[in-house]
Amino acid sequence: MPHICTAWPTSVAEEAYWQSIREQYMIAPDEVYLNTGSFGSQPRPVFEKMLEILEDVERNPTRHRAEYNRVVDDSRARLAAFINAPAEDIAFATNVTMAINMVVHGLDWRPGDEILTSNQEYGAIDNCLHLAECRYGVVVKRAEIPIPPEGPEDVLNAFEREFTDRTKLVFCSHITTRTGLITPIKALAQLAHDRGALIAVDGAHAPGMIPLDLRDLNCDFYGGNCHKWLCAPKGTGFLYASSSMQERLNHVVVSWGYSREGARRGTDDILRINDRPFMWGIENWGTRDQACFAAVSAAVEFQEAVGKKRIRERGRQLAAYLRDRLATTGWAKLLTPSVPDLSGSISAFHFSGFDDLDLYERYRITVPTAKSDDVYWIRVSTHICNGFDQVDRLVDALHEERNA
Ligand SMILES: Cc1ncc(COP(=O)(O)O)c(C=O)c1O
Repeated sequence: MPHICTAWPTSVAEEAYWQSIREQYMIAPDEVYLNTGSFGSQPRPVFEKMLEILEDVERNPTRHRAEYNRVVDDSRARLAAFINAPAEDIAFATNVTMAINMVVHGLDWRPGDEILTSNQEYGAIDNCLHLAECRYGVVVKRAEIPIPPEGPEDVLNAFEREFTDRTKLVFCSHITTRTGLITPIKALAQLAHDRGALIAVDGAHAPGMIPLDLRDLNCDFYGGNCHKWLCAPKGTGFLYASSSMQERLNHVVVSWGYSREGARRGTDDILRINDRPFMWGIENWGTRDQACFAAVSAAVEFQEAVGKKRIRERGRQLAAYLRDRLATTGWAKLLTPSVPDLSGSISAFHFSGFDDLDLYERYRITVPTAKSDDVYWIRVSTHICNGFDQVDRLVDALHEERNA
């Protein structure tokens, strides 16, 4: 029997539907998994697709290679359609970290060039920018985005203030890791282009959480993960580079996707290397597992059957319910913006008055937390594998811990 939340607009039929979706996930049924923002769990059909390919490959790893390269191409095309980008502009990558490294270390820099980023980027990507500073003499500047911003203009103004005539690249997360802010990327891309800069986006959390339309966003580079909200196998991400920018990308790892003759544009205006789209060459980092990339199409199929907008709305509905339940506690400070356009399925808080916040041992709830100066940071991901009853379990556990 699905849990009906009487305090929130839903229905028996609606909750029965979400229960049927939840049952397809492989998460232990007695556990509450609220950390899709770190790692998505695969629905069973996606996992089985990957297993099927893994097994088939092992029957003859040599003979099946070419066949599965074609399957990976089909999977890339399906992903590209899902995020509304031309398939030839997409390279598969192991993850978004790799995708952004391909941009930052693939572009040519002059000492003094500036990369304009924000104070809310992911730590591993900050490391990548730091290396660029040390190796190429670029200067990394930071827009100070308020936490939380009250509207898109707060984000845009923070960037606008830091532009100089040396700004060559704007780099920003589409959805920030610590606070779940959805940045106004389309407007930021426009701002970057107006100022003569390129824009690269860290889209770790966007695919599968919010509908993505890369043609509309008009970014130069966009790195994304499939293994978070799209719930595809671990080690699946992608790099999109707009057609006009691909010529500026150097290979970071050189393998068979490179040619001594260089890349050429055909009459169809597609940049090719070794007769294949340039981006498909740049993704060749030598021998890699094909099954995980091939199964991305199954993850897309799973989500398309539910519907992108419905997924976004469900995540937001659960997030709104959680925020509502914590709003009056007096000890939970919401870090995620309340403005609907700036906020999705991540809710981040600062909690005061907790000695310890390990909710797994006692309650079997998985949620990331970090303590600093007696204040806990907590990030709750509400996705289609979750329900109102699980939000209730989290909130009840928090009350219990606080009173302990
Ligand atoms: C905003 C953001 N960027 C990048 C990453 C890194 O993802 P991956 O380790 O899959 O490259 C994360 C991971 O949580 C993230 O939140």
